[in-house]
Amino acid sequence: MSDSDPQRADFVVVANRLPVQQSMSQGNEEWRPSPGGLVSALTSVLQSRNGLWIGWLGVSEHGDPPRTYEGIRLKAVDISSEEYENFYLGFSNATLWPLYHDAIRAPTFHRTWWQTYEEVNMRYATAAAEAVAPNGTVWIHDYQLQLVPNMLRELRPDVQIGFFLHIPFPPSELFMQLPWRREIISGLLGSDLIGFQVPHVASNFSRIARRLLGATGTDSILHYDGRIIRVGAFPITVDTAQIISMASDPKIRLRAREIRRDLGNPEVMLLGVDRLDYTKGIQQRLKAVTELYADGSLSGDKHVMVQVAVPSRESDAHYDLERHSLEQVVSEMNGDHSLVGSPVLHYLHQNLPFDELLALYLAADIMLVTPFRDGMNLVAKEYVTCRTDQTGKLVLSEFAGAAAELRGAFMVNPHDLEGIKEAIRLAMKAGPKEAKARMSRMRRKTLRRNVYDWAQSFLAALQQGSQDRTPTETHDASPSPSG
Ligand code: G6P
Repeated sequence: MSDSDPQRADFVVVANRLPVQQSMSQGNEEWRPSPGGLVSALTSVLQSRNGLWIGWLGVSEHGDPPRTYEGIRLKAVDISSEEYENFYLGFSNATLWPLYHDAIRAPTFHRTWWQTYEEVNMRYATAAAEAVAPNGTVWIHDYQLQLVPNMLRELRPDVQIGFFLHIPFPPSELFMQLPWRREIISGLLGSDLIGFQVPHVASNFSRIARRLLGATGTDSILHYDGRIIRVGAFPITVDTAQIISMASDPKIRLRAREIRRDLGNPEVMLLGVDRLDYTKGIQQRLKAVTELYADGSLSGDKHVMVQVAVPSRESDAHYDLERHSLEQVVSEMNGDHSLVGSPVLHYLHQNLPFDELLALYLAADIMLVTPFRDGMNLVAKEYVTCRTDQTGKLVLSEFAGAAAELRGAFMVNPHDLEGIKEAIRLAMKAGPKEAKARMSRMRRKTLRRNVYDWAQSFLAALQQGSQDRTPTETHDASPSPSG
């Protein structure tokens, strides 16, 4: 492509995955939009800005992917099976993922994984450099692609570069373990704007950038290599309008009633919905609920729990192990406390369609979201958004990014079994008036912004940064919409 090539896009999104994925429908393979808020958040921005999305098709790759999705051009990055092992399962999900989530599992450091991470990041950067129009904008997403900003800057110094990290960024004590810590920070500093989910995580990054690479400036404006890099918190959220409209669909409401009936019309239905990941605290949560059955706070004829564990990263040994030990806890809980015909726990290791998840959210009395560490946790926000009648209670980990906004939840330390039990007891005891006050507080906060506002606020801060860019700038700026 030449510089004046009309095929070049003014706005390019670079993410590990493309917004479409292959799935089977009645024996046929078809392409469907990937689930999640990111796709819906970015679709309209991409459509209005001659946009293109660069990403990987995933492992179940057969046949040619579509060239466009909803009018957005797609550009696939190929990843070989060896790169899948080293880049995806290895450096992304066995080094960075555990390290960035409090080292809940020991991160593994391998030089060959790092080398492949660099190579694959360069492939994404090259694809972006080829695709973006002169002076265009590139928005890079998540921990799999932290070297892309600086690689792209070297290839295309004319473009505006934004980076958003969807997961937590660790405190210095943990980050410093990484043998390639300088390279990661320097990769990210290639951006004009670096966004994180919550302010203290953004500050972790800026402190490390000053300490390791000698960047100067404040937590929200760094000076490095003759450039200005803005750093801020942009808490991601859900498509509130879409969820509210689906939640009022009579079919989904009917399905919620059917679910309760199928569960035996319990007095209280507890619900957990998570990707099956060791960061989500699912086992600890189920152990707490099991103990509540054991001490008589819950009983098999009145209380029922549903736990959805969405299959994830199944070819990774840590995830396989987590599934097996989780299923041990599931069977102990049911074995010890179920009655004939009515298990206390309904465990679904399935990827349910979103309308079924919404019906579950609507059916539940108490939602349990207890990750050990989570960048944001959109399940909590989806649950709160769909409870349009202000009913329903939320037990929430204080270590989820969402805890900063959802102050009406029953907060727990997810490592503290007694604390989880107490929060569930309190949630059960809370009467309709208290529950409503808590839920409406959470809804007021959540409904203030939707995922389009999130994308727009990030892109506006990126644009603003490039307009204000002067090397002598000294004032502090707060790009954070959350303050
Ligand atoms: C988290 C990460 C995403 C990732 C998703 C699913 O939400 O922040 O970057 O895409 O998990 O994980 P997977 O490995 O299947 O892409």
